Amino acid sequence: MTAPTGGGPDDRDRPAEVVDVAGILAGAQLAVATAGSSRHLDEVETELLGKRAPLSAAARQLGTLEAEARRDRGRAIQEARAAIEHLLAERRREVTEAERHQRLVDDRLDLTEVVCSEVRSTVGRGHLHLVTTTRDALEDVFVGMGFRVAEGPEVESDWYNFGALNIPPAHPARGMFDTFYLAVGAPESTMLRTHTSPVQVHLMEEAVAAGSLPIHAVMPGRCYRRDTPDARHLPVFHQMEGLVVDRGISFADLAGTIETFTTAYFGEGISARLRPAYFPFTEPSAEFEITCALCHGAGCRTCSHTGWIELGGCGMVDPAVLAATGIDAGTWSGFAFGFGIDRCAQMRHGISDMRALVENDIRFLRQF
Ligand code: PHE
Repeated sequence: MTAPTGGGPDDRDRPAEVVDVAGILAGAQLAVATAGSSRHLDEVETELLGKRAPLSAAARQLGTLEAEARRDRGRAIQEARAAIEHLLAERRREVTEAERHQRLVDDRLDLTEVVCSEVRSTVGRGHLHLVTTTRDALEDVFVGMGFRVAEGPEVESDWYNFGALNIPPAHPARGMFDTFYLAVGAPESTMLRTHTSPVQVHLMEEAVAAGSLPIHAVMPGRCYRRDTPDARHLPVFHQMEGLVVDRGISFADLAGTIETFTTAYFGEGISARLRPAYFPFTEPSAEFEITCALCHGAGCRTCSHTGWIELGGCGMVDPAVLAATGIDAGTWSGFAFGFGIDRCAQMRHGISDMRALVENDIRFLRQF
């Protein structure tokens, strides 16, 4: 396929004219054009430009020539090498592209393929995860109460996760949140959000920019904290945040909203209670708890024998938070709450250990 290979230790002794550069180039064109795979092209490259290639032999023979002939011939050999390298590169591009295309065709999976009935009856059709269906059900409850659903980013800056929420750097309340920081920008400037409250800040800023106050929204999403997993905690968990900013909003509106949502979602048998608490972004603040659904209030291991399970926190939006986002606290007031979606799933379905939600045991998941 290619010009005859020369080479060998005694090239130097042979007369230089033996190598026909033009002929080699013509042969190379054919060889390169007919190489159909990158492997084949590698072989052709070795034959044409390798140590044992006729061109290389010709280069080694240059020393036997007179100065002028050596220069002309040297140039011819260099030009031929360059031309061959160019041919090889062009062809390699074509061949690689064809191979890539072929790989895509070979690897293609037909996801629309109909599963034969035998397989379907043993494997079954999947369904949404319990946490997803819980989130959907909770959204339905709040949409029914007039809230809209909003979302925000899971990676946040210090301003959204802490600063705008009235938690300046070095504030002791940062200790409430064991934070996963990302190695992006200045140290501890970027993090996985520790709660859904930063979405409140985004919504308030957007509403101010668009002049679209009031706000009635719930914001479900994934949150992250450096917590050791146990029966009631996961380091990656889901919260639903609620925010109302309107005229004349009072704590009674907040309490009524929590009561309505817990009854709608958990049913009449479960009661909710508010207990005074502290959050830097709400004042006054409360924690809300519901009757432990596992022991119906009698006390068990899951509720640490208290009969109550903490679902989340709430309170009246601190005027400092309104001010941070440019909202006039003289005209507007609001309440906010945030609670665990996983915790709701756990209580609604009597799951004693929350870790079951993420262990992917199909026997567990199939029940819901
Ligand atoms: N963001 C708080 C937390 O994760 C909960 C909360 C939300 C409290 C809104 C008050 C108001 O602990």
